[in-house]
Amino acid sequence: MASAKQFGDSLSIWPLLVLTSLCLASAGPIVNTFNEGNGGHRLQHLVVDKHSALVYVGGVNRLYQLSPELERQVTVETGPREDSPECPAVDCLGSVLKRPTDNVNKALVIDYTDTRLIACGTLYQGICSVRNLKNISEELMEVREPVVANNSTATTVVFIAPGPPNPPSTHVLYVGVTYTGNSPYRSEVPAVSSRSLARHEMFQIAKMEVTTGTRISVNSLSRDRYPIHYVYGFSSEGFSYFLTTQMRESTNNSPYISKLVRVCQDDRDYYSYTEVPLECVAENGTRYNLIQAAYVDKPGSDLAAELGIRAQDDVLFAVFAQSDPAEGGEMSNRPAPRSALCVYSLKSIRRKFMHNIQKCFSGEGHRGLDFISPSLPCVHTKLQTIGEDFCGLDVNTPLGGGEPVIERPVCTMNNVLLTAVAATSTGDFTVVFLGTSKGHLKKVFYFYFLLLFGNICFFTLF
Ligand SMILES: *[C@@H]1O[C@H](CO)[C@@H](O)[C@H](O)[C@H]1NC(C)=O
Ligand SMILES: *[C@@H]1O[C@H](CO)[C@@H](O)[C@H](O)[C@H]1NC(C)=O
Ligand SMILES: *[C@@H]1O[C@H](CO)[C@@H](O)[C@H](O)[C@H]1NC(C)=O
Ligand SMILES: *[C@@H]1O[C@H](CO)[C@@H](O)[C@H](O)[C@H]1NC(C)=O
Repeated sequence: MASAKQFGDSLSIWPLLVLTSLCLASAGPIVNTFNEGNGGHRLQHLVVDKHSALVYVGGVNRLYQLSPELERQVTVETGPREDSPECPAVDCLGSVLKRPTDNVNKALVIDYTDTRLIACGTLYQGICSVRNLKNISEELMEVREPVVANNSTATTVVFIAPGPPNPPSTHVLYVGVTYTGNSPYRSEVPAVSSRSLARHEMFQIAKMEVTTGTRISVNSLSRDRYPIHYVYGFSSEGFSYFLTTQMRESTNNSPYISKLVRVCQDDRDYYSYTEVPLECVAENGTRYNLIQAAYVDKPGSDLAAELGIRAQDDVLFAVFAQSDPAEGGEMSNRPAPRSALCVYSLKSIRRKFMHNIQKCFSGEGHRGLDFISPSLPCVHTKLQTIGEDFCGLDVNTPLGGGEPVIERPVCTMNNVLLTAVAATSTGDFTVVFLGTSKGHLKKVFYFYFLLLFGNICFFTLF
């Protein structure tokens, strides 16, 4: 695995690559490697076309298209380009001082409905382009609209799932993005939004009214002191979810926790916007408070039986870390090398959302989420129909549930910071791949291969 060192920084890439190879080669744990050559362009994202098995990789100033055997087919140079934070996304005045600026890939996603690749980078206030999947050097469209984070470290999560105007037949781009500072160009970028994928309104907020629409923002007073870090996003049974780390309260000195953020896909006003804490707590009370990575898939029959669900139901695999005690413990978003894997059924997650929503709609407690809008007492409604599919109303919105989704770790690892997770089921068994970095200076990766047999975890280092 020496070539892993050359593969770059992004820890989320390897397990997926390994998985791809396993699936494609279906013969033992062979791993092809992709060496990007001399430039050392750090790699950020990797996606695999489920039909063609072509692999797309986004890095700093580069996009790559690779064959299923990981041979390089196309390289696109996306930066550096002359840019400035003072420039709007379109038509920058000649008088603004511009510098050669790196373009860090922040999002890479395949739009299967229209067979195209969507790639977004930090340049020009964080814009996206649409490319031909067969040859990504062909740019079909570039839209000068700020969508993703405009700096290299602020988080961005995007995924495509059903959304307005006519879900499930129409799809939109769900975007979760960390606030990166105030400016005329960035302050209108919502924290969470659904953006159109229709040609004539590409990447515009899918539905926009004066006070509502498919978007939600942290209020302008809280933005600078209430960062939300987006870790993962997925779609399941009519809802779109984001996983985040953020402070429990918007007051100073509030501990960091992990949260599930959810909107109903059939909600063009985001009335259904709800947050519920996600916890991974050991038997002895040790909390692994910071989610680092996640993956949603169907379970093998072993895990389905264990979770009491059907093999068709979705399962969320999530790796967590404890906050670094040297940085103030849970007051810090900095992870320590103490990790845990927790596994949740979407069935139990849906139920917990429903309980939190029902509680508020029966008039109990406060709405919460005062970093979005003032937290008012929950309004009692006579509504009898709040089931798991409840899609929101213009009361009790947005809603911050107090009752967390809790699981015990399947495995814990001391002295290790897990930063990636992927899973696959081979019929009966569920195989989980865990990725980790060891040491901040040396880019050496270790990968754990984990078989879940009941509660016992077998690790193989490879
Ligand atoms: C992709 O398109 C470019 C520009 O048209 C062309 O030079 C290149 O040969 C194409 N590559 C592949 C693999 O089709
Ligand atoms: C991102 O945008 C913010 C707000 O405009 C600006 O202050 C910051 O300098 C930008 N970052 C980069 C790397 O351009
Ligand atoms: C990106 O923006 C965030 C939020 O403003 C800031 O904390 C972070 O330091 C910035 N990163 C870089 C590399 O400028
Ligand atoms: C609690 O349990 C975790 C995981 O099993 C273990 O790593 C940790 O050392 C335990 N902590 C205490 C205080 O016993």
